[in-house]
Amino acid sequence: MLANDRLIRAIFRQKLDRTPVWMMRQAGRYLPEYREVRKKAGDFLSLCKNPELACQVTLQPIERFPLDAAIIFSDILTIPDAFGLDLQFVEGEGPCFNNPIRTSQAITSLPHIIPELELAYVMDAIRMAKQALGNKLPLIGFAGSPWTLACYMIEGSTSKNFNEIKRFLYRDPVLLHQLLSHLSHATTDYLNAQIAAGVDVLMIFDTWGGLLSRSHYLEFSLRYMQEIIQGLKPAEKKQKVPVILFTKNSGLHLEEISRTACDAIGLDWMTDLREARQKVGNRVALQGNLDPAALYAEPDIIKQSVKRILEEFGQGSGHIFNLGHGISPDVDPSHVAVMIEAVHEWSPAYHR
Ligand code: CP3
Repeated sequence: MLANDRLIRAIFRQKLDRTPVWMMRQAGRYLPEYREVRKKAGDFLSLCKNPELACQVTLQPIERFPLDAAIIFSDILTIPDAFGLDLQFVEGEGPCFNNPIRTSQAITSLPHIIPELELAYVMDAIRMAKQALGNKLPLIGFAGSPWTLACYMIEGSTSKNFNEIKRFLYRDPVLLHQLLSHLSHATTDYLNAQIAAGVDVLMIFDTWGGLLSRSHYLEFSLRYMQEIIQGLKPAEKKQKVPVILFTKNSGLHLEEISRTACDAIGLDWMTDLREARQKVGNRVALQGNLDPAALYAEPDIIKQSVKRILEEFGQGSGHIFNLGHGISPDVDPSHVAVMIEAVHEWSPAYHR
């Protein structure tokens, strides 16, 4: 049993004393102690691949702030890297694959990976972080959605509109489905390995599902996330590991997302929490959704923004406080403390 199980209780909409809070990208460049360890590792990917250091940076935000969860330090692009696409992070330019997908043969010959072997560094970091956390806090594991991984694998790097995969979608949808299906199987195995290694909650990041039209979103993104969730197996003698599904820019599809087997939906900051709650009813919990830029504001404004989010969700359990996307690297850590404090101070009123 976890000493602090607020996150799990909120996901299952059970009674709580206050709203749990954690942040996407909570271990990252806005923390000086993170920059220090990254320097020691050399670069971001070497940090991900070093379980001791990955475990150390996983714990940094929870040592500094009274958060209700830790998230394992890694990246969504570990799977394509394990396929042999050779991931690299160029300073200031984001992710880049040295061997992006350029031919149909590159898709049909993608290898089957065994996550416990090819991605052993992730499972080792999870086991170390679980050991260090003891039963204090839940540990969140994660993966990218097949659609979002395919965006990077086909574009080869980050992009504004990912036109390469859009072109592919219109020209060869059958082959794209083959790629998404392959990614979906690999991701299911990867998340099952994370469950076996000890994670308490899983999150699927679909950063680019919002680029798709409604029918394409259902066909090329949501469907595969649903297949992944259906393929998850609880660890021996343990209860089901809940899944948070985050599609950025998904406000128009909340009803459909809530009808997959997910347990909570992550919301970006464009979505109104009150309307979202009406749409999803009692089917799932909601996570979010403070605009990450609100952390640039003066403390008073940050507090008011937190209050507004809590008020938008309203009374009762089923809300996990978070940002609407990852924290920016140039945020002052003392502003994060203000945000968390405000959640602690004001959220109990919504749980009476
Ligand atoms: O949330 C956490 O603290 C856990 C760690 C985590 C990272 N990336 C660490 C990271 C998680 C959950 C991710 C997910 C991820 N990675 C996503 C989906 C989430 C989202 O933001 O929508 C995506 C699209 C990626 C791919 C990726 N990795 C990008 C686009 C970048 C940014 C590059 C940049 O220079 O800003 C990364 C790098 C990355 N992943 C960093 C961190 C802390 C920054 C690396 C550094 O320079 O130290």
